[in-house]
Amino acid sequence: MYTQTVLIALFAAVAEARFGQEQGNGAIAAIGALSNLGQPGQAATLSGTSIQFLLAAANPCGKLKQADLIVSELGTSDAAIAAARGLVAAEQNFNPFLVSIPSICSDPTLPTTAALRGVVPLIDPAVVGEVLENANSKKSITTPFPADGLSVAQVMVAQGFSNFTAVDQAGNKVAASTLGTSASSGSSTSSNSTASAAASSSLATDAVAATSTAAAVVCGGTSFVTVTRTCTGSGSLLTCTSPSVGFGAVTNAVTGNFGGFVASTNSTLNFGLCVPTMKFEAGLDGRAATESTFQAQDPLVNKGQEEALNPAIITNRIHDQLTNVCGANQAAKDAAAAAQTLIVGLGTRDASTAEAWNSALGFAGTNINPDNAPQTGLVGHT
Ligand SMILES: *[C@@H]1O[C@H](CO)[C@@H](O)[C@H](O)[C@H]1NC(C)=O
Ligand SMILES: *[C@@H]1O[C@H](CO)[C@@H](O)[C@H](O)[C@H]1NC(C)=O
Ligand SMILES: *[C@@H]1O[C@H](CO)[C@@H](O)[C@H](O)[C@H]1NC(C)=O
Repeated sequence: MYTQTVLIALFAAVAEARFGQEQGNGAIAAIGALSNLGQPGQAATLSGTSIQFLLAAANPCGKLKQADLIVSELGTSDAAIAAARGLVAAEQNFNPFLVSIPSICSDPTLPTTAALRGVVPLIDPAVVGEVLENANSKKSITTPFPADGLSVAQVMVAQGFSNFTAVDQAGNKVAASTLGTSASSGSSTSSNSTASAAASSSLATDAVAATSTAAAVVCGGTSFVTVTRTCTGSGSLLTCTSPSVGFGAVTNAVTGNFGGFVASTNSTLNFGLCVPTMKFEAGLDGRAATESTFQAQDPLVNKGQEEALNPAIITNRIHDQLTNVCGANQAAKDAAAAAQTLIVGLGTRDASTAEAWNSALGFAGTNINPDNAPQTGLVGHT
């Protein structure tokens, strides 16, 4: 009895030594430290329940769903996003007696939170290729990689590391080398031309290789006019290409289309005459159809300010206009100042940046492409 107790204690100590390193990016502690967010005790609970997703037995997609849960429960403040990204980036253990490479989630829908996409995990320093991957992981926390339509596994392959096993939510495994690296190129060039079909409503319902055309598709909160795409593979490994897409021309590219006044959903924040939302569109003000920039949506706010590649320029302008022309209350100005800090902290320059700004001010879900600008690269997937 005595001997058995000692053995177990010793084994636990060894396991913990390695596990301590896996928490080396501080993910678990950072989640627990968010005690000022959400309901009392929620951060501590999320921190505790997150540990299981870093253990060898866990499905690697579980950690991504847990990161989404953290954002849904603790909000989209920069601290909450940073902590959730930390979990996405945390190393998951594997059993070295069974396998020699890590398992990575191959579900392209996860994580669902835009601000968490494009973040890739740390891996065990014993795995060949770790120098590149661990550098990529550290970079991705502040500057996520392009991830539209891509699983975390595909993002990792696209960034040069493929010494891992890709695992879908059902536990099906494939070698990373068989994955496509782009949602718009797919893993194979062969298309199933016999399976042409009109997609009924959403691209996300296609589960088999097919060529489909869909009307009025909504993707990432943005409506598109028509999409033609070819998909290969099946299930969670389905990859699709949308080569020639009629997204409609940019209308009114300088001041833009504006849907009219709406109040913030946060009743504390009064933005006066203005709607302080930001858009992210390609082709604004003479830019190329492939070059997306930020701009304020409300003509009262964007008057006299050109669109910009740097979101901080636009958030600064919006903040100034709250005093100059809008007559916003102090709480609204303070919230805008806090959101400016959040946007700088995110370090992103994509659709998620505009969405994070709009959400922070009580305008979550605002269409960030009111002018129907081209949105190449955004395609549906299962
Ligand atoms: C992947 O990493 C394992 C563990 O370090 C190593 O044995 C294997 O050779 C690597 N495979 C490739 C293709 O680099
Ligand atoms: C094409 O797709 C159909 C179903 O959509 C399937 O039955 C058929 O086997 C596929 N053919 C090829 C060559 O993949
Ligand atoms: C509303 O805004 C205030 C001030 O920024 C903030 O403290 C509060 O958490 C917000 N409420 C919601 C529900 O977002």
